[in-house]
Amino acid sequence: MASTEAQIQQLPAASRGKPAFDPEKITVIFVLGGPGAGKGTQCENLKRDYSFKHLSAGDLLREEQDRPGSQFGQLIKDYIREGKIVPMEVTIQLLENAMRAAIDDEGKTKFLIDGFPRKVDQAHAFEASVCPSKFTLFFDCSEEVMEARLLNRGKTSGRADDNPESIRKRFRTFVETSMPVVDEFSAQDRVVRIEANQPPTAIYDIVKVRLAARGIAFGS
Ligand code: C5P
Ligand code: MG
Repeated sequence: MASTEAQIQQLPAASRGKPAFDPEKITVIFVLGGPGAGKGTQCENLKRDYSFKHLSAGDLLREEQDRPGSQFGQLIKDYIREGKIVPMEVTIQLLENAMRAAIDDEGKTKFLIDGFPRKVDQAHAFEASVCPSKFTLFFDCSEEVMEARLLNRGKTSGRADDNPESIRKRFRTFVETSMPVVDEFSAQDRVVRIEANQPPTAIYDIVKVRLAARGIAFGS
């Protein structure tokens, strides 16, 4: 049997020469922020009130980890526990598959891609081979607030990474590996920054206003 490394290299999605989807038809909004910044909570609000499809990279990875017969289950498990970023080929393939499954018949679909791209190489590969993004919603939150939220969530989430040691590693990965993505998109004026050190309802009020300013009306 081929090694996991070789199997990863064979996944096609990340290496295609041109985007699989036309950004005129498919709207992609990346949703970024540290662990516990409120990405998932705000995406749930948006999914309820707009016609967005919500794809969480972390959720897709956890599903693949638990899928019987997955070649990548153990690899994903190890990366998630250590708070490290899973090789982009795997994540991008899962996202592309989920996008295909969710695209409406007429082809026009709006996606919130939550927790992705977490690394500059993922950003470049996804935009070149899957779909360029419209902009990035960035939830900017202090580590103190995020830690409190994650420890609280950890009481019931059952997640292997909502514990103090994994949280510390995830914070480090966010600062060292994921913030460069936000910085690069910011330099291109493609980031909508949301102050996220406040209660979820207050955050959502700001999100709605900022989306409207980018041409996405409430309910659309
Ligand atoms: O976004 P979420 O907190 O659910 O992600 C959990 C973990 O999944 C991350 O800490 C990381 O190990 C993995 N992940 C990844 N690449 C992504 C998103 C998540 O490796 N783009
Ligand atoms: Mg999440």
